[in-house]
Amino acid sequence: MFGRRGVSGPTSTSGSAQGLAPAPNPAPSPAPATSPPPSTDLAPPAAAPSAAQPSQAAPAVPSPAAVPEAPKPTPAPTPPVQAEPAPKARRSDYYDIKTDVFSAMIDTIDLAQLTRMDNDSAREEIRDVVTEIIALKNLAMSIADQEMILEDICNDVMGFGPLEPLLARDDIADIMVNGSDNTFIEVDGKVQLTSVKFRDNQQLMNICQRIVSQVGRRVDESSPICDARLLDGSRVNVIAPPLAIDGPTLTIRKFKKDKLTLQQLVNFGSITPEGATVLEIIGKSRCNVVISGGTGSGKTTLLNCLTAFIEQDERIITCEDAAELQLQQPHVVRLETRPPNLEGEGTVTMRDLVKNCLRMRPERIIVGEVRGPEAFDLLQAMNTGHDGSMGTLHANSPREALSRMELMITMGGFSLPSRTIRDMITSSVDIIVQASRLRDGSRRITHITEVMGMEGEVITTQDLFVYELLGEDANGKIIGRHKSTGVGRPNFWDRARYYNEENRLAAALDASAIDDERLSA
Ligand SMILES: Nc1ncnc2c1ncn2[C@@H]1O[C@H](COP(=O)(O)OP(=O)(O)O)[C@@H](O)[C@H]1O
Ligand SMILES: [Mg+2]
Repeated sequence: MFGRRGVSGPTSTSGSAQGLAPAPNPAPSPAPATSPPPSTDLAPPAAAPSAAQPSQAAPAVPSPAAVPEAPKPTPAPTPPVQAEPAPKARRSDYYDIKTDVFSAMIDTIDLAQLTRMDNDSAREEIRDVVTEIIALKNLAMSIADQEMILEDICNDVMGFGPLEPLLARDDIADIMVNGSDNTFIEVDGKVQLTSVKFRDNQQLMNICQRIVSQVGRRVDESSPICDARLLDGSRVNVIAPPLAIDGPTLTIRKFKKDKLTLQQLVNFGSITPEGATVLEIIGKSRCNVVISGGTGSGKTTLLNCLTAFIEQDERIITCEDAAELQLQQPHVVRLETRPPNLEGEGTVTMRDLVKNCLRMRPERIIVGEVRGPEAFDLLQAMNTGHDGSMGTLHANSPREALSRMELMITMGGFSLPSRTIRDMITSSVDIIVQASRLRDGSRRITHITEVMGMEGEVITTQDLFVYELLGEDANGKIIGRHKSTGVGRPNFWDRARYYNEENRLAAALDASAIDDERLSA
């Protein structure tokens, strides 16, 4: 598994070493007035004695002017519920002092040696040196200020600068940096602006570079798009100028160590206890499931929940773009796709993985996200004795999920008549579970839908459970209810019976039937 970043260990060692290594190809910042020195955050002191700015290869004007005024903690426009650990007030000369201390540190410390240390020891070393410098220079500072400078400098040298406090928070789902001035986060389903700012786009670019260099990749003007992963498993995308017009744009989907459980989803009201029971039976009785939903709607979370009901003795193979699933069973093989290397070679696609899976004697195949022609292979797998396989895809309703699957296969270059593709879908997929993020930020499971068969050219489906919107309360929170649609005997009844679950299934459906014939009509 992934070591948490910041924890000492082999992974973090290599990470920090990489992080300090000069960027192979400095990205030209959008337009620094003066030509920048080598654009690592930390140019080796010999090479650039003028690297006086803290952690920054910004325009080589060693005047304090290059360092922006201490950002008066700008209150975020939207009232951030807890947008950030409140930016502690910084004394007005904070950045001057930091610059001063930083350049003294650069002169003192052996950076090359620092790169060979593990993260914790390197931080320790930096702290020692900085504390000494502050003492030597006789700088009058409060303990709190001193601590802040220590932390800042460590983050600048070792970590991801202003992003560090956000990365350390566990309640954040996504971090979205749009250029140096705007950083948004998503907390509890709501996107909010934070007061995190980077000194300039160059600093941001250097941090992006440091992130992607950890996985041996590079981002610059000639290859401005890059996917990477933090050591803790968080997924990262960087798109840089000139493609991103307003500066480097960084998107991080934070990896949650503790995945939500189905019980938690019930507690949040994302699904009722009866709905959860139906999902449990679906998982246990080896239905083939497609989880559909928009970005960040909770597809992966739901997939992870469903895998909890797989028996301990089944051989499970997972295929993902970036390993997120956390299966609890003992017999799991985890596979991950690979992006092309710097030379543009070595790509391993999802389709390659899914195809290979079939030769690995899987009992269940779990595909993190189906985006392309692998849809075909997954359906084939579902169809050929790998019952209970699952995958997620991006669609806004169960119907749309069906047409997306068809489209992915058509676009994948399989010249099959659409009737054949639809037949294939109906004979493979048993259930579509729809996840949605509602406009109030809450996430709900809005449909549990069965794929029934074909009527003429059309795939027929049957909703077992739906979430019905009723309105909105005074605070803008959405009010609604989950209900079964009155289907007494779902299509997978026999399957459930085979696994001795038919009584629970009937009870769960009965209990949620609301006396209202509209939906089943
Ligand atoms: N039902 C839910 N209630 C609250 N938060 C949820 C729920 N489902 C998912 N989340 C959170 O939403 C974020 C995005 O979920 P994820 O499953 O990764 O979305 P997707 O795979 O659809 O992009 C995660 O931080 C996750 O913990
Ligand atoms: Mg996902």
